[in-house]
Amino acid sequence: MSIQTSLPKQHRLELIRVKPSEVFESETLPKTVERGLSHRPKYLLCRFIYDAIGSELFEQICDQPEYYLTRTEDAILRDHANAMVDGWDDPPTMIELGSGSSTKTRRLIEAALDRYGSLHYVPIDISGTILEDSARTLIDDYPAIRVTGIASDYDTALRVVAERIQGPKLLVFLGSSLGNFDDEDAVGLLQRIRSTLSADDRFLFGTDLVKDPTILEAAYDDSAGVTARFGKNILTRINRELGGNFDLDGFRYEARFSPEHHRVEMKLISDLEQIVTIPDLDLTVSFGAGESIHIENSHKYTPAILEQLAKQSRFLEEASWTDPDGFYRLQRWRT
Ligand code: TRP
Repeated sequence: MSIQTSLPKQHRLELIRVKPSEVFESETLPKTVERGLSHRPKYLLCRFIYDAIGSELFEQICDQPEYYLTRTEDAILRDHANAMVDGWDDPPTMIELGSGSSTKTRRLIEAALDRYGSLHYVPIDISGTILEDSARTLIDDYPAIRVTGIASDYDTALRVVAERIQGPKLLVFLGSSLGNFDDEDAVGLLQRIRSTLSADDRFLFGTDLVKDPTILEAAYDDSAGVTARFGKNILTRINRELGGNFDLDGFRYEARFSPEHHRVEMKLISDLEQIVTIPDLDLTVSFGAGESIHIENSHKYTPAILEQLAKQSRFLEEASWTDPDGFYRLQRWRT
C-alpha cells in the first residue's frame, strides 16, 4: 500500500525553513575571527570553511584515494542497508542530520523503499539551497518517496521534528560527522537526539575508528592537496569577506593524530613571522614562526569510547556493522 505514489510531485515535497537558534546565529564569521585569533593558541571554527567553494572542495575530498571514509561507509551501507532499515511493520520516517546532497543516504532510502514500498524522508541541512536541490532530485528519482526538508541548525530542526513528526523514526547521521564535535559536545548532541526519540525509534550513525596514524593523517592531508586547499579556504573567506590580507602561501596545512584526544587535529601553520590585518574588524594579528591556527578536529573512535558515549547519553546499542579492515563502524542505538 502506498498512498504517496499517486500524489503529484508538488505534494511530495515540502521545505520548512526555520530561523536557526540564537546560539547558532550569534556565532558569525567576524565573531569567530575576533575571538579565535586573539585566543592562545589561535583557532577558527571549521563550520566557516563550508561556503560554496568549501562545500565543493569537500565533495572532492570524498573522492581522494587517501580519504577512505566515504567509500568504506558506502560499502558497509551497501552490504547491510536492509538490516539497518528493518524492524518496523510500517515505514519509519527517515530523518537525516546534515544530509547535504543526500547521496550517501540513497542506499538506505532504496532499502527502505524495497522493504516498505513507500518512505517519508526528512533531510535536515543548514543550507536551504542544497536541501531544495537534493529534495527535487529525490522526488524525481523515487516516485514512492515524500520529502520534508528542514533548513536549520541541528538543534532547531530536532525541535521541529519533535513537534511535527509522528510515529516511529529512524534518525540517520552519516559521514562520521559526530567526530567533528569534541567529546563533551558530542555527548550533549547525543543527549538532545536521545530526548527527541521514543521506544519505537532508532538512531543509526557512522563513525570512523582509531587506526594506524599514517592512514589517518593521509586521509586528512591528501597528496593532491585538496584538503589543504579546503582548510585554507577559511583564510580566503576572511580575505574576501572581511578585507583581510592573509598570504595563503605563508601558511602550511598540517594534520596530526593525537592519541590522547583520539582525534586528527587540523592546523594552519605560519611558516614565518608575519602580521596580518583584517580592516573590517580593526584587527591586527601577529604570527610567530611556526605558530598555528587550529581549524578542525576529527575524532576517531574505539568500540570502548562509543560504549562510553552511549552510556553518557543513555542509549543502548542494538547492532553494529564494520568493514573487513575494521576502519569504520555504523551502529544502531535505541533508547
Ligand atoms: N566529517 C569530515 C571528517 O571529519 C570532515 C572533514 C574531512 C574535514 N576532511 C576534513 C574537516 C579536513 C576539516 C578538514 O572526516
